[in-house]
Parts: sequence; C-alpha cells; structure tokens
Amino acid sequence: MSEFDVEIKNIVKRFGSFVALDDVSIDIKKGEFISLLGPSGCGKTTLLRILSGFEQPTEGELRITGKNMATVTPNKRPTNLVFQHLALFPHLTVAKNISFGLDVKKFDKAEIQKRVDEMLALVQLEGFGERKISETSGGQKQRVAIARALINRPAVLLLDEPLSALDLKLREQMQIELKRIQREVGATFIYVTHDQGEAITMSDRIAVIKDGVIEQLDTPNAIYERPKTKFVASFIGQTNLIEGVVKSKKGSEVQIETSSGHTLLVSNAEHKDVGETALLSLRPEKIMVGPDVAEDNSFEGTIADVTYKGGNTRYYIEVGNGWRLEVNVQHAANATVSSVGDKTRVGWSSSRAFIIGGE
Ligand SMILES: Nc1ncnc2c1ncn2[C@@H]1O[C@H](COP(=O)(O)OP(=O)(O)OP(=O)(O)O)[C@@H](O)[C@H]1O
Ligand SMILES: [Mg+2]
Repeated sequence: MSEFDVEIKNIVKRFGSFVALDDVSIDIKKGEFISLLGPSGCGKTTLLRILSGFEQPTEGELRITGKNMATVTPNKRPTNLVFQHLALFPHLTVAKNISFGLDVKKFDKAEIQKRVDEMLALVQLEGFGERKISETSGGQKQRVAIARALINRPAVLLLDEPLSALDLKLREQMQIELKRIQREVGATFIYVTHDQGEAITMSDRIAVIKDGVIEQLDTPNAIYERPKTKFVASFIGQTNLIEGVVKSKKGSEVQIETSSGHTLLVSNAEHKDVGETALLSLRPEKIMVGPDVAEDNSFEGTIADVTYKGGNTRYYIEVGNGWRLEVNVQHAANATVSSVGDKTRVGWSSSRAFIIGGE
C-alpha cells in the first residue's frame, strides 16, 4: 500500500493535437488539502475530470487509494466532484438534494436519514432539511453541494472553483468552513481555483499550473517566498521583477547591476557567478519607505502614484532611469510619505530580494 492517497504519474492529455496537460505528476497524502492554481485554460478542470473519471488521460497513470483507476468508472471511484455550477435540483428539498446519491443506490431509509442529519450538522444547516433549494441563499446552496458530495464518504473530494460565484465576504467565510469540514471528515481535498489568495489561505500545498505544466508544487509559504519561475512570482501576489547582471561576488553575496544602472546587494546567491544574468523578485511589502531609510539597498526616489487601500497604501516610486518600484506600506508602521511628487527614500535588506529559480 502506498503512503499516498492520490498518485498522478506523468499524465498527458491531448485534445487532437492540443496538449491540455503535459507530463503532470503529483503525489498527494491522505488528508492533504491541495490546490490546483492557474489562469483560465491552463488545464485545472481537465485534471479534475481525469481524477473523477469523466475524462481519460492520453498517457500516464492514476492511482487512488493504491488502486489503478484506468478501467474504473466515475461512480466506482472513491472520489466525488463538486462542480463549479453546483448542479443542485432547485425543486427538491435540501435533504433530498443531499441524499440523492444514496437514494439512487437504494440505501436503507433509516441509514439515509442518519447520514443526512450528520451532513446537515457538518455543514451547519440543521433545521434546513425541508427547505426547497430555490428558497436558500448562495452560501447555503454551497453547503448543500458540499454535503451532497460528502454523504457517500469519498476518500477524495474534488472541488472545481466551488466558491467563485460568492461575494468576497461569504467566500472568505466559506473558506474557513471548508477547512473545518475537511478536518472533521479527514478526506483528501483537491481544490481548483484561479484565486491565489484563496489557494494560499486554504492549502497544505499548491500546484501552480501554466499551459498544462506544473510550474511549482510547494507549500503556500514557499510559493510566495521562493517562487521558482517568473510566472509563479508574478501570478502569486504582486512583485517587482528586476533584471540585472552579476558584477561581483563575495561568499554567497552578489552585487547586481540592473538595466537601469543601479547596483543592488543580494544575499543567498551561492548559485550565481560573475557575468551571469539574474532575475530578482522583490515583494512590495518588503520595501521600506521614508526619509530615514538606511537599508543595505537604499535609493532616492520620487512618488509617482499613491493608492489608498484601507489597511495599507500602495505607492509607485520612481527610482531613476525609468526604474519604478511598487511599494506596499502598512499604515501603523509608516505614515511619513504622502503625495505624488514628494521626494523620499526606499530601501530593503539584501536578503529581501531573491533570485528567481535559485535555491
Ligand atoms: N473536450 C475538449 N476538447 C478540446 N479542447 C478542450 C476540451 N476540454 C478542454 N479543452 C481545452 O483544454 C484547455 C484546458 O481546459 P480546462 O477546462 O482544463 O481549463 P481550466 O484551467 O479549468 O480553465 P478555467 O479557469 O477557465 O476553468 C483549454 O484550452 C480548453 O479549451
Ligand atoms: Mg475550469
């Protein structure tokens, strides 16, 4: 028996000559919450459909709970799928929607009742069983869809952008709910989203997908702090991408000259040698702003744009020769910079910017 609940091995999916998934491999542990994150058309739904058995891979192997799925039909798999558009029956009650799968399989009535009650409690819809779906809110429908998918106790729950139709507030509430539900049932969750914030909050690991290829499979922290590719760096949150050439090296620290003619000090650069090009990622919230900034990378700048964002303010700061930095300032920490045209200083420590692709 494998230590993994889901083993996706070198899966390729072609539609005619179009390659929708290109050599995708992921091993997923039991009880893990994995997000598939990427832009529209990158292959997320296709991978979920292969996992659920509605689509066959062109190449590669899929094992779930140790069993090869090649000849196993969707209804025989230990998976269940929550569709993006929920696909509930509006004229049936909440309870009937939840019990649908068990009704079809002609489960014992008392057993069905017991499990429906369990599910209503799990998704916090006690007392709503006899309501028609058409009389429930968006968030309640969401809960019904999840209860319906969990009632036959799948080992693996597949969710295709289940929260995308909800407004931000409700979506954040449901994110917390979903994590709680997952902890309670102990199932493995594979969650498709194109919302990076959602993936970061909910996941144990995230697979960032671009054009059918996994660009990086890592913890949210590693994806954010140490993106391996330019695509991952810019898709996950905001970042300043800076290109330059290594001019000198001392131990693991390098000096990089940017195309705008600035010299930057970067630590953790063991793998870079003098003369090589380097692409740096510098997150907007890692940059200090203010007249007294004296980090080991410090520059004079002029505020080119200011956007008030509530808890924080975003600045674009012109640092010379067309180099413009995006900076994010939390209010409590820094209230000194104010309006467009003001002169200021920006700075960051040499460990704050990092070279993309490096370990
Ligand atoms: N049955 C099909 N025949 C041909 N091409 C398909 C088929 N299904 C999907 N594709 C293509 O495969 C690619 C991946 O589609 P998929 O639905 O997996 O994207 P996605 O990542 O889920 O995107 P979205 O975020 O928009 O839902 C797309 O370019 C799509 O047009
Ligand atoms: Mg999709």
